[in-house]
Amino acid sequence: MELVIANSAGFCFGVNNAVKIVFELATKSDHKIYTLGPIIHNDQVVQKLTKHGVTTIDNPEEAVAPAKVVIRAHGVGPKIIEGLKNRGLEVVDASCRYVEKIHSLVNKKYKEGYQIIIAGDKTHPEIIGINGWCDNSAFIIEDEYNVDKLPDIKKKICVVAQTTFIREKWEKIILRLNKRFENVLKFDTICNATDKRQTEAEKISKIVDMVLVIGGNNSSNTNKLYQICKTNCDNTFKIQTADDIPPVDIKKIKKIGITAGASTPDWVIKEVIHKMSELDRQDMEMSFADAFESS
Ligand code: F3S
Repeated sequence: MELVIANSAGFCFGVNNAVKIVFELATKSDHKIYTLGPIIHNDQVVQKLTKHGVTTIDNPEEAVAPAKVVIRAHGVGPKIIEGLKNRGLEVVDASCRYVEKIHSLVNKKYKEGYQIIIAGDKTHPEIIGINGWCDNSAFIIEDEYNVDKLPDIKKKICVVAQTTFIREKWEKIILRLNKRFENVLKFDTICNATDKRQTEAEKISKIVDMVLVIGGNNSSNTNKLYQICKTNCDNTFKIQTADDIPPVDIKKIKKIGITAGASTPDWVIKEVIHKMSELDRQDMEMSFADAFESS
């Protein structure tokens, strides 16, 4: 059995940076530390941080001063930061720099009078955060069909994408927007790390018999990788850890692809690789024993 492992699997730049910041604070700072939302979509990492005294809160109001509140890579709107500071809390902003670029862009274009449209998942924290930079006035669309449901917009339009948006969907949205409206200013804000990860997942899923996509259940980029791989390889499974690997008939599977979302730690990926290699080794030993017995 051959394992085809995506080079791009695992932590992206932004997640790596945010996790590093929280671990450093947890070990060096005397302050109480909160993270606004789980720092990444990975239960094991969040549990490790809890053991170091870090508290995850879902609502900024839950933080009690004096304390430091870490903003995760997804970022938040300016009012959240302002509210925390006004309540005497120290804000440590671990927003990914690519997300921050979208914040400045949206804020600038909003002030210039553009109607902001965001292509993304309206329930995702990154989108809620971006919308905060245009006073929550953006139209949020998830696919090209949503373009038809938009009201008539008389203003100039500025459209941006969630950093983990699927490129194919983005292109369809732009085509449809250009058909329906004039003056559409588009900014392709899909992150390079996402692009690379999705392109690699697509390529791998076309040449293997089975794909394992490793990542948290709530991780949007992992779910998108799963969708991409499932389109090409029906035998695609989403798993959180090595314990979730489904039963595999090694004799029928020649090539297994492995990819992982941006919030999957290296050690989780290594455990999955190790378990798959073990299964292969056991199978080879059994085949050897069978051959020996029948000779
Ligand atoms: Fe940042 Fe891209 Fe990761 S936007 S958080 S580097 S997926």
